[in-house]
Amino acid sequence: MPALESSDSSGSCLNESRKPAEPCTIVIFGASGDLTSRKLIPALYHLYKDRQMPPSFRVVGLARREKTDDSWRDELRVALDQFSRSGPVDDKVWREFAKNLFYCQGDLTDPAAYERLEQLLTSFGKAPLRENLLFYLATLPSQFGTVVEKLHHADLLQKDGAGWQRIVVEKPFGHDLASARALNQELTRFTRESQVFRIDHYLGKETVQNILMFRFSNSIFERLWNRDAVDHVQITVSEKLGVGQRGGYYEEAGALRDMVQNHLLQVLALVSMEPPGSLEAESIRDEKVKLLKSIRPIRPADVAKQVVRGQYFAGVVDGEPRPGYRQEPKVKSDSNVETYVALKLFIDNWRWSGVPFFLRTGKNLPVSTSEVRIQFRPTPRVLFAAQCGDNMDPNALALRLQPDEGIYLRFNGKVPGISLGVRPVRMHFSYDAEFGAYTPEAYERLLLEAMVGDATLFIRRDEVETAWQIVDSIREGWQGKPLSNREFYAAGTWGPVAADDLLAQTGHFWHEPRVMR
Ligand code: BG6
Repeated sequence: MPALESSDSSGSCLNESRKPAEPCTIVIFGASGDLTSRKLIPALYHLYKDRQMPPSFRVVGLARREKTDDSWRDELRVALDQFSRSGPVDDKVWREFAKNLFYCQGDLTDPAAYERLEQLLTSFGKAPLRENLLFYLATLPSQFGTVVEKLHHADLLQKDGAGWQRIVVEKPFGHDLASARALNQELTRFTRESQVFRIDHYLGKETVQNILMFRFSNSIFERLWNRDAVDHVQITVSEKLGVGQRGGYYEEAGALRDMVQNHLLQVLALVSMEPPGSLEAESIRDEKVKLLKSIRPIRPADVAKQVVRGQYFAGVVDGEPRPGYRQEPKVKSDSNVETYVALKLFIDNWRWSGVPFFLRTGKNLPVSTSEVRIQFRPTPRVLFAAQCGDNMDPNALALRLQPDEGIYLRFNGKVPGISLGVRPVRMHFSYDAEFGAYTPEAYERLLLEAMVGDATLFIRRDEVETAWQIVDSIREGWQGKPLSNREFYAAGTWGPVAADDLLAQTGHFWHEPRVMR
């Protein structure tokens, strides 16, 4: 993240030193896939519309099916109508943008495809369009190694050549530590780590980026951000959607690998890391790794005390009947794969010693929401015991990541009237109310950062590997153990009873995120 520089009359610090994106070509491998039409092309179109794309650029889609440039453009136009975040597509803008889209037919295992790609890139004429190359691997991870090797042999990917070449990859980054290491080795066989940009789309979310801004630009909160003031922290990422058509993938992944290994641990790291020395990518990523390494390992024998799995059975979400997980397509009828997971983690460092961090995520829950709740310690029970007994609500700060993006602070206030009634009230900051409805898609930000070459919002190799270490030992603890009755939950409820038990052991309970509308 480049430095924040000037301050305008409203007190906002504007980043004027940001490096603009240089002319480049983005090559998408696996261009016939869903990700390209649903996320990547709409993101690039919006960047173009908002004048954020470099002064000259090309986008090349490489895939196996026979298509022409025009037929690919037509297909993408239809998809954009469906996936554009800003309402109807502007035809004039689209036509200008689409002139930069090219299709290259080829099988990614075939060296001839890379020769054709090389010729196409050379035909673009200007040096930066041939040399500044962003390769987006929207393919299976098992194909990453092949693509990187073939690009290298076609002289399209160099460690220290002219211009710059970068590789962008999506999760899953392996399915355990060993496979993640092998994948990282394949990716860096012909590149440097600094050329690899691993996407966790949560880091592209405006509200997730705001966690560091909020923490380190406000003295009032940061001095409370430690074991002296914080009782515990809850991180909830709940989804109303079930597994649906992704049963095949989910049977292999489960919620722990699909959500905790990446999104939840990333949010946890941002919420709890120490201030970085600077806003440079390496400085921030060093602190995140340090934090992940400070998480107390959960030994397989302790998994039952600190981690709860869950799996939904048939139920109702928003009045709509949902099948049980075991009845979803491509799911085994006796599957023990978790669609929900809740964990209690401890961070063994000076700041957080003894403070529990409760994390949970699940499918087919009553609302879709992502929220971090910092629950502060209660005041001494001396003054208001008569009015509130033991139940006076402690202060809490909720960072609302999505939807209804914002932050609210919960504190106690006097109920108007002659009695001394006390009850919780809230102060609420809403992004919409403050900044209007500017909500760029995570992919817009991430693609732009990859073009600029700023790796802050991407995951470094050691982050991925440290996160797998945490997850692997939990999986080891589950091995061969079927789900118990207390680990099933009806679709449309807040997860299994066992997840309530996990918090109840220490007198805590889950705070349901507020539904704003
Ligand atoms: C993905 C997971 O990484 O994140 C999905 O594979 C999940 O299972 C999705 O639904 C959630 O992302 P978001 O942005 O909708 O919260």
